[in-house]
Amino acid sequence: MIAKDRLVARIKQLPTLPGAVLGLHRLLQDKSSTAKAFEDLVRPDPALTTNLLRLANSAHFRRDRDVDSVRQAFVVLGARRFCDAVTSVALSSVIPTHLPGYGIPARDFWLHCIAVGILTEKLAHDLKRPVPDSVFAAALLHDLGKLAISTFLMETTDEVLQAMSCQHLSMANAEHAVLGLNHAELGAMLAQTWGLPALVVQSARWHHDPDGLDHESTRDVVDLIHVADLLSHMLGLGADVGELGRSLSAGTHRRLGMAARQIETVACATEEIHEFGMPRAAIEAEAVEEVVGLPLMAPRILAVNRVRAANDGRASVAPVG
Ligand SMILES: [Fe+2]
Ligand SMILES: [Fe+2]
Repeated sequence: MIAKDRLVARIKQLPTLPGAVLGLHRLLQDKSSTAKAFEDLVRPDPALTTNLLRLANSAHFRRDRDVDSVRQAFVVLGARRFCDAVTSVALSSVIPTHLPGYGIPARDFWLHCIAVGILTEKLAHDLKRPVPDSVFAAALLHDLGKLAISTFLMETTDEVLQAMSCQHLSMANAEHAVLGLNHAELGAMLAQTWGLPALVVQSARWHHDPDGLDHESTRDVVDLIHVADLLSHMLGLGADVGELGRSLSAGTHRRLGMAARQIETVACATEEIHEFGMPRAAIEAEAVEEVVGLPLMAPRILAVNRVRAANDGRASVAPVG
C-alpha cells in the first residue's frame, strides 16, 4: 500500500495552474467585471497569451476574422468562452508528456479533457439543464487527480488490475482499494489546494460516484460530467485503462432522464471536439449503445462513419435522416 501521505505530498510537487485562471473565474462570477480586468490577468503571461491566441484562431473558436490580441480574443469570444479558452491552455501547460499509470500520452489525456468539456455542455443543452458559466472548466478539470496519482499507479499496476478483475471493481474503486485514495479524491484535494471554485472541486470528487454528492446545487453538473466522461471513454476519445469496469450510475440515468436520441446527437459532437485541435479518433458505435443500453442508434452512427471514412479517409459522425 502506498502511504496516503506520499500521494497527498505529490499534490504539492505538481506544477500549479497559472494564477490567471483562478482570477478569471472570480471575474466571471462578478457581472460588473470589465474587459480590461480580464485582459490584465492574461497579458502579463507570454506563454498563456501565445497559446490563447493560437486556440482563439483554431477552427473551434475562430470567427470571421483573425484574433491577434488578448483584448480582441475577449471581444470576439465573450467572457465565458475567453475563460474556457484560457483554462484549456493553462491545463495543457501542466500535463506531463506521459501519464504512465494510465498508459496514455499527454495528447490523449488532453483530448479526453476537452471531450468531456464539450460533451458536458452539449448534454446540458440537449437535456435543457441550466448550468453555471464555469461548467466547461469543471468538466475540463474533472480528472486533475490523474496528474497526481499516475506515477504511483505504475508501482501498483498489477495489484490494481487484479482488484479490477477479481473483485469486479471499477478503476477508481480499484485505485482506492490499492492506494488508499483514488484520482477523484486526489483531484478534489488538488483543486482545493489550487483554490479552484467549489464546482470544480465537487466535479473532480464525484464524477465517478455522482450518487455520493450531497450538494443539490451542483448535482446536475456532476451528473452531466459523469455521463460525458463515460461517453468520452466509450467513444475512444482519450481512452485509458480507466475505461475498463465502467458503468452509468442508475441515479444519474434516472435524474437526467436521457433518451437514446439525445445521446446520439451529443455523440455527434466528436467533429467539434477534434476541431479544438485534436486528431480525429475512431468512433465505436457499440460504445454509444453501451452507454444507455439502447441499440437503435448504433447502426446509424456506424453507417455515417463508414460513409465519412470512405469519402475522406477519416472517421467521424454526423446525424443522418
Ligand atoms: Fe476520472
Ligand atoms: Fe475522465
